[in-house]
Amino acid sequence: MATSKHILVVDDDSYVRESTEEILRRKGYDVDTAADGKGALAKLDEADYDLILSDIKMPGMDGIQLLETAHGKYPDVHIIMMTAFGSVDTAVEAMQKGAYDYIQKGSADPSEIELVVERALESRGDKREIKRLHSELQDKYSFNNMIGKAHSMEQVFDLIDTVADSRATVLVTGESGTGKELVARALHYNSARRTAPFIRLNCAALPKDLMESELFGHEKGAFTGAIKQTRGRFEMANGGTLLLDEISEIDPSLQAKLLRVLQEREFERIGSTQTIKVDVRIVATTNRDLQKEVEAGNFREDLYYRLNVIEMGLPPLRERKEDIPALVQNFVAKYNDENGKSVTGVADDTLDTLMQYDWPGNIRELENYTERAVVVAQGDTLTPDDYPQRLTSGPQGRDDGGIHVGMTVHEMERRLIMKTLESCKGNRTEAASMLGISTRTLRNKLHEYGAMKAFKESDENLDHQEEKVLVAAMA
Ligand SMILES: Nc1ncnc2c1ncn2[C@@H]1O[C@H](COP(=O)(O)OP(=O)(O)OP(=O)(O)O)[C@@H](O)[C@H]1O
Ligand SMILES: [Mg+2]
Repeated sequence: MATSKHILVVDDDSYVRESTEEILRRKGYDVDTAADGKGALAKLDEADYDLILSDIKMPGMDGIQLLETAHGKYPDVHIIMMTAFGSVDTAVEAMQKGAYDYIQKGSADPSEIELVVERALESRGDKREIKRLHSELQDKYSFNNMIGKAHSMEQVFDLIDTVADSRATVLVTGESGTGKELVARALHYNSARRTAPFIRLNCAALPKDLMESELFGHEKGAFTGAIKQTRGRFEMANGGTLLLDEISEIDPSLQAKLLRVLQEREFERIGSTQTIKVDVRIVATTNRDLQKEVEAGNFREDLYYRLNVIEMGLPPLRERKEDIPALVQNFVAKYNDENGKSVTGVADDTLDTLMQYDWPGNIRELENYTERAVVVAQGDTLTPDDYPQRLTSGPQGRDDGGIHVGMTVHEMERRLIMKTLESCKGNRTEAASMLGISTRTLRNKLHEYGAMKAFKESDENLDHQEEKVLVAAMA
């Protein structure tokens, strides 16, 4: 490979330093070395580097301090941390502070170092190009479009900014409708990966066998119905980002397979022995407490730790009501455009109502109701009458749904479930979250009541549409 990319290797252990230098030189890179953070900074002042590979534990200025200082002074240089075996904690800290990637010392074979370095350099080239384009493009998913001035949201935005460009796995947690998917997209579209695909897969949507094939793909004839070779989502997302929605719902047998991809970045298609390597950034979301799922034995602990490298917790809307006015204004503008209306805003008493309501369905609920209000509005401001009555009818959830003595618990449960679903317009994810049960449990209950079909169709249509958009984006 004819290249003169300039790399700085920093390690106090001369053996690691020299062997890493040797591996990279053989690949044709121009390599300098330093024995600690201070020495590295001196080199950085003297020459331009494309990439830094640094040990974490070093006497004097350690790798984390070097990362922080270098990032401030030379924001364009990617830093890869080299960690000792078993010190995942510090690697996690480094990723949170903006390291591009990490490799484990000792266990890492030369080809792994080569691969990680190559990708970091490629991504750096993209990053420069993106910086240039950034001012020209107002991307739909740039997180400037995510509204939130509450302190908790500012922290989320800062974290997105810091970690977008690294490959670190991110676990986005929060109740239904709090904006988890929006965060995943913001991570992707603010990273050097933005020119590669953003692929989404809902882990609750499919039975186990189909899910496996969705994730990893299959060869022709691998199972009945496998009429042609098909790539899985991991392959489709190569170079980009894979969003695994509702990760808590993934079948235990697939958890082990997922763990392997997260660890080794490789897998095989169903029915194939050929190993496929991919470079995919994983973002997983959940509206359940994964730690509790681990304790209950439903979720593998090792997978949990692999997913939870960086956790972003989104606050429920009721805990950041100060954002409601700006959100409403934003949705009014959006749905004016879509519906050819010219609503200017909300009347004061309407805003009072919106501020008092608890928003169990969070931002999605606020958006849906505001869309509806814009469509039905007669005047140029939205009045309380334009919003559903449940907002104004006092404390929510007091409606007893026809519960009476003499009714079985089973019947009471059925009524509650159906009523909740109704209020969520059939959105099972949202309903399950409000009911505090998993979507899998909800699905089973609906099967039991013979009510599955009514809700299934709307859900599947949604997934289908998204898929079309994805395919179009990839073409
Ligand atoms: N900060 C925000 N600013 C503006 N719109 C937002 C914000 N957060 C969420 N939304 C909007 O609210 C809706 C729900 O967001 P999203 O789909 O990301 O939620 P979610 O947490 O993934 O929900 P679920 O758990 O049900 O999948 C979307 O239409 C999204 O555009
Ligand atoms: Mg979502």
